[in-house]
Amino acid sequence: MACNLQTSFLPALKFPAEATLDKRRGNGLVVCSVASAADSIMTESTPTGSAAVVRSRPLSRREVETSERKMTDTTGKFGRFGGKFVPETLMTCLSKLEAEFNLVLHDPEFQEELATALRDYVGRETPLYFAQRLTDHYKNESGCGPEIYLKREDLNHGGAHKINNAIAQAMIAKRMGRKSIVAATGAGQHGVATAAACAKLSLKCTIVMGTLDMERQASNVLLMKLLGAEVKSVDGNFKDATSEAIREWVGNLETNYFLIGTAVGPHPCPSMVREFQSIIGKETRRQAMERWGRKPDVLVACVGSGSNALGLFHEFIADEDVRMIGVEAAGFGLESGKHSATLAKGEVGVYHGAMSYLLQDEEGQIVGPHSIGVGMEYPGVSPELSFLKERGRVESYSVTDQEAVDAYQLLCRLEGIFPALEASHALAFLDKLCPTLPDGAKVVVNCSGRGDKDAPTVFRLTQGSSPGDHKRHPVSP
Ligand SMILES: Cc1ncc(COP(=O)(O)O)c(C=O)c1O
Repeated sequence: MACNLQTSFLPALKFPAEATLDKRRGNGLVVCSVASAADSIMTESTPTGSAAVVRSRPLSRREVETSERKMTDTTGKFGRFGGKFVPETLMTCLSKLEAEFNLVLHDPEFQEELATALRDYVGRETPLYFAQRLTDHYKNESGCGPEIYLKREDLNHGGAHKINNAIAQAMIAKRMGRKSIVAATGAGQHGVATAAACAKLSLKCTIVMGTLDMERQASNVLLMKLLGAEVKSVDGNFKDATSEAIREWVGNLETNYFLIGTAVGPHPCPSMVREFQSIIGKETRRQAMERWGRKPDVLVACVGSGSNALGLFHEFIADEDVRMIGVEAAGFGLESGKHSATLAKGEVGVYHGAMSYLLQDEEGQIVGPHSIGVGMEYPGVSPELSFLKERGRVESYSVTDQEAVDAYQLLCRLEGIFPALEASHALAFLDKLCPTLPDGAKVVVNCSGRGDKDAPTVFRLTQGSSPGDHKRHPVSP
């Protein structure tokens, strides 16, 4: 098994499609039943109630609305994905968190406090920026092409979308009387956001990070320390840091709060993170209506584990005329085995407390992810995105390290904006997307973060050469 009891909620469990997903016990841990996933109208079920082959077809509006209602139920299921695969000792803690989350959703005082923080501290709303030169770059010989807009999450305090969720969860932790926050970070953006929120709310903060990631994202490590956080290093990368942060949290459930930075983990974590990130899509809808009087035609976001993508997409799930495209990290290529393309190459399994697509080998061992965008490196992915992809509502594609580096350079040169390497994956996909779109189509790309943290990496690889000129300095294994 990939993870033992000490390092994760549960070992990675691999579920073949025909497996009966009922109550299982292993290693003394209760694995919650997922039989209700098979009962869900969103999942095709066999007469035995086992999970079965799911038809891949677009959802009808009624199905979407029904699934939306189901998504907010207490099981945290998205079709067959999600759930709460945790030891019994954690169930009470997660139930308390769920109760608090449901409370704050309808508490005007909390909502007012959050709205003020998002406006005055985070700096929302973020602009929907018309990228004129990028738009011109993608015009064909006849001068036709889509219009490209960037949702500028890079302009948030801390330089990424992560603060939308971090500030809200830190407020929840404070209400619950927790004194100490523990979080895991890969790219360091969630670490910076959490450290900042903890400083503001006077909470003790420990950030766990893989040693290699600390080297790759050194400027963010300095920021976390300056913001008063203790930064703990662990061997490995983001997945190992997450396991260690969970261990730290479980060590003292009464005072510690595990502040998860992306839409994974056991219920209610994926729903909570998505809810706090959904402001991205809500603003985008309003801004699009004001700017051009209708919805965007295409939404594009990078998919590391899913929080910025769901943040943009969630508002539009029921709008079937809006395409939603998630772009994963193909690393050195999908066939190289060195990538983080979980939706493309993963199989269904359980990891860090929830069922989702998962990069794993035939024995269910986790396959280490790779991407030049550190925040893209996670072997699992949001259960909600897994569901939306399975049902054909979200399209998923991938771009290589090289393509992401080129897109980073291109945005620098054409728009004077330096995107995070994670966001560069979404931007890189424009190369393939734009030639297929009708003239004037409105495309919104989520610029999920700023890329000063990645400047040394990009500069080392390109030595200041022009975008696309990677014959001299190819990104290679
Ligand atoms: C700027 C930025 N964008 C995207 C991601 C990927 O995470 P997610 O898929 O949860 O948005 C990260 C992760 O660290 C990030 O820092």
